[in-house]
Amino acid sequence: MGNKAIIVQTGGGYDKVVVGQHDAVAPEAGEITVRLHANSLNYHDFAVVSGMWGPVEPRIPMADGAGEVIAIGEGVAEFAVGDHVVSTFFPTWISGEPLVEGFATVPGDGVDGYARETVTASANAFTLAPKDWSHAEASTLTTAALTSWRALMSDDQLKPGDSVLVQGTGGVSIFALQFAKMAGATVIATSSSDEKMERLRALGADHVINYRSNPNWGETIHKLTGGRGVDHVIEVGGPATLEQSMIAARVGGHISVIGILTGLGGQLNIVAALVKQLRLQGVLVGNRSQQQDMVRAIDACDMKPVIDKTFPLEDIVAAFRYQETNRHFGKICLEM
Ligand SMILES: NC(=O)c1ccc[n+]([C@@H]2O[C@H](COP(=O)([O-])OP(=O)(O)OC[C@H]3O[C@@H](n4cnc5c(N)ncnc54)[C@H](OP(=O)(O)O)[C@@H]3O)[C@@H](O)[C@H]2O)c1
Repeated sequence: MGNKAIIVQTGGGYDKVVVGQHDAVAPEAGEITVRLHANSLNYHDFAVVSGMWGPVEPRIPMADGAGEVIAIGEGVAEFAVGDHVVSTFFPTWISGEPLVEGFATVPGDGVDGYARETVTASANAFTLAPKDWSHAEASTLTTAALTSWRALMSDDQLKPGDSVLVQGTGGVSIFALQFAKMAGATVIATSSSDEKMERLRALGADHVINYRSNPNWGETIHKLTGGRGVDHVIEVGGPATLEQSMIAARVGGHISVIGILTGLGGQLNIVAALVKQLRLQGVLVGNRSQQQDMVRAIDACDMKPVIDKTFPLEDIVAAFRYQETNRHFGKICLEM
């Protein structure tokens, strides 16, 4: 039996995205079959689809997938038919210290992903989704949410009263704001848009700063914290923001080096990191056990993700074109 799939042909590029078919297979021991209903977009998916990191062979894109279990292989006790599930970014990194380098094992990147009707995969490629979340809502968790969760709650151990700086209003930063508020932290958020700054306040940000009209936002934030500096920075800007992030951080503060929104490299004033004894931690999403912890916390706290817009699966190129405009606030999803 054939099932619908989005296929990015070798090399990638919007003109190489086609609607095709994939084979549906029954689950073997340790596997489950999931009928997928939604995906959410991330920058690395954009890199695959747009051709920036175009695939070397035809690829079904999208790492973030959510749906319903429709068949179970022998020996799988964790799931039942009908369970709502969400994909894991690293199906082979179950728990503990980082094990995996790069994207070779990541669905939608090095192996086929979830822009398709059904998938049969290892049970470790999914976890349960939060209770009462739609499939689109659940699909936002795999990459953006887990990155923020791991940075704040696993690499660091955020506690009430801590302060967190989040940059811009993309998926990672909005989840970081929500998780930080969940933990009782003070959140300082930046944006280039006054309208988005209002929305950040409505979501619970304690202070908001326009990083475009205030290029020395690091100093402003340092003063806002009474001269102490923030405990944790969710650093998504990259080379053009890291220096200001180091100014904003407290002595001994934790900077999660996550994003490359301003480019891949640049000059770094390393002295600032030394004199303030900063902890710069590179982050590549997280492991399956961290995802299960995150889902449990979401269930306990009744939280919902912020979805800006949802497109039909077939309009995947239009969805990525929209992501490129940076007009979104939170996540962009696909539904089938
Ligand atoms: N390492 C990892 O594990 C990991 C995981 C997920 C994502 N990432 C990376 O993290 C970054 C953010 O991902 P995302 O999915 O949240 O992206 P996104 O949703 O596309 O975020 C776009 C938003 O970022 C903000 N932005 C752009 N330039 C900025 C700057 N110079 N300073 C502050 N904010 C800026 C803008 O917010 P305003 O419009 O409000 O200004 C923009 O709307 C990307 O580089 C992505 O590749 C890394």
